[in-house]
Amino acid sequence: MTTRRKLAAGNWKMNGTQAALAEISALNAAFPAPACDVIICPPAPFISAMAALKGVVKVGGQDCHANASGAHTGDVSAEILADAGATAVIVGHSERRADHGESDQTVNDKAQAAWRAGLLAIICVGEVEDERTAGNALSIVGGQLAGSIPDGATGENTVIAYEPVWAIGTGLVPTLKDIAEMHDFMRAELTTRFGADVANTIRFLYGGSVKPTNAAEIFAVSNVDGALVGGASLKAADFGGIIAAAANA
Ligand code: PGA
Repeated sequence: MTTRRKLAAGNWKMNGTQAALAEISALNAAFPAPACDVIICPPAPFISAMAALKGVVKVGGQDCHANASGAHTGDVSAEILADAGATAVIVGHSERRADHGESDQTVNDKAQAAWRAGLLAIICVGEVEDERTAGNALSIVGGQLAGSIPDGATGENTVIAYEPVWAIGTGLVPTLKDIAEMHDFMRAELTTRFGADVANTIRFLYGGSVKPTNAAEIFAVSNVDGALVGGASLKAADFGGIIAAAANA
């Protein structure tokens, strides 16, 4: 049986100030040797300062351009993130897909860019509410997995985050049965494509309104290897509760 170390990943989105780095210092102090991996993805301007804290909380980007460098005003490459001290980058978050029209192919290109720079790619998928209501959640996510994950994915270079769009920032969470159904389905899809030996090493995060109060029950669900957390990652007190729950799972 494959043991996958749990991962608690935080996504600050477009929030925070440099003063908020005190939250990271608090986490580093509270969890000197956490039983799960911990990554926070702050706005890009904070990455260097966060990396300089050199604690157990690793630093990730929230997006990257597919190219290594060039005339792309306002964008950040995976290489620049790595140079600033990031070890991971989120690609294909639903807010990027919606706000910037990112397709599965765009996300696939960005995941390959992450690998090129030596970063862990956290590839996000998830259905919108109408798709779930219509009974199409599995097929939508299956298509996103097929299109967004490049050939060559392994547990070393890739994490998949299942984030139902209707659960993000809303306080709504799927039933534990629905989370299990989706994560088991994703494991089966990756097993078909990559073989069990590789598929079983790739961690699956659940994301969407994860809080300290529901983290433990979500971490106990089949094929849930951690969480991608938005709102509850901004405060050490909240995120610390989620790290503690992952450690106990
Ligand atoms: P939330 O966001 O935890 O605030 O729902 C999750 C995410 O978008 O990753």
